Amino acid sequence: MIKHDVKDISLAKKGKLRIEWAAREMPVLKIISERFRKEKPLKGIRMAACLHVTTETASLMETLKAGGAEVALCASNPLSTQDDVAASLVRNSGISVFAIKGEDTKTYYRHIKSALLLKPQITMDDGADLVSTLHKDERSLLRNVIGGTEETTTGVIRLKAMAADGALQYPIIAVNDAYTKHLFDNRYGTGQSTMDGIIRATNRLIAGSVFVICGYGWCARGVAIRAKGHGARVIITEIDPLRALEATMDGYEVMPITDASRIGDIFVTATGNINVISKTCFQLMKDGAIICNTGHFNVEVDIESLKKLSKAKRAIRDYVEEFTLRNGKRIYLLGEGRLINLAAAEGHPSAVMDMSFANQALCAEFMVKNAKKLENKVYSVPEKIDKEIARLKLKAMGIKIDTLTPGQKKYLKSWEMGT
Ligand code: ADE
Repeated sequence: MIKHDVKDISLAKKGKLRIEWAAREMPVLKIISERFRKEKPLKGIRMAACLHVTTETASLMETLKAGGAEVALCASNPLSTQDDVAASLVRNSGISVFAIKGEDTKTYYRHIKSALLLKPQITMDDGADLVSTLHKDERSLLRNVIGGTEETTTGVIRLKAMAADGALQYPIIAVNDAYTKHLFDNRYGTGQSTMDGIIRATNRLIAGSVFVICGYGWCARGVAIRAKGHGARVIITEIDPLRALEATMDGYEVMPITDASRIGDIFVTATGNINVISKTCFQLMKDGAIICNTGHFNVEVDIESLKKLSKAKRAIRDYVEEFTLRNGKRIYLLGEGRLINLAAAEGHPSAVMDMSFANQALCAEFMVKNAKKLENKVYSVPEKIDKEIARLKLKAMGIKIDTLTPGQKKYLKSWEMGT
């Protein structure tokens, strides 16, 4: 049996069926997988992937394997693993998986190190914990690595900070920055899956609630549209004047977090920053306020302060913890402050992950072909790859578009013609 550490291998059958269900919505990745099977662009390449272990990730892992890679997978969050998927990847796909839903921090890092035992030549990360562990604790393995890819906004920010410090030891492609990734996955994926997570965890009616969203980046924009669609009164808090202005003109109320704290029913953080919901906010909140996070790390809500302010804590439903403050007020924290869409629901729907993971697969192929020409920096996804994914997705959706006429092409290159 292939090396692994999963919750229960007997869940493999259920996982296989769910992977099959998700794959139906991933036509672009399927096309890439079929080409990879024939061309083997990743032949003999050892890859370590640190991603949310979901049905969609399973299709990506199978695609990389079809391309000839040897893959080890670990979780990119302690609470996002789908244990049946992990089991199926080991039993049915022959992929090494080290991931258990609910694992503690020590196990989480042990699992990252287990994936690194493969001595990867390519890393595939979501949040940069794999890259950071490699650079901090496993430096002897760095000499094997030719390049990597990064899935998410938070990871790209961390990696750019590493590059700016001169710490980054190999080139990385920021998959997140592709249009076919963040415009769809971050916006429509986070929008839908965050509402899904909140609703599954609480079963609360969203209509008529005061829904406070911290941040107005692509993920927050997606949550705002969907919360509004459910009939909530949506309030945005921001630190960036441009985003605050955009939120205002998109029809949302914008106000400081302290003002929003007094009136919110449900709070969602999507900023990528720490202590966005702080001690002051908890003190101002109404009895019964619900708080969750949809950003990558569980740092956006100051949980330590919430604990210190509380005289009692109890689990009241799956993914819902009740904190009773010393003044008697109750505050509900969802999913331990970890990304609610993956903790209490199943993450983004397959149809958007199709494009995100098509980017991952094609960028891995690009890296194998081009790593020698690249510096130890964070690179954008080549425009050719981004456009090709959009073209394939449209084709799969049966949508046709127009092409420029020769006259239009000429006009776009000219400057003489005006009014
Ligand atoms: N990130 C958000 N949703 C995801 C999913 N369904 N699979 C993998 N990574 C994700």
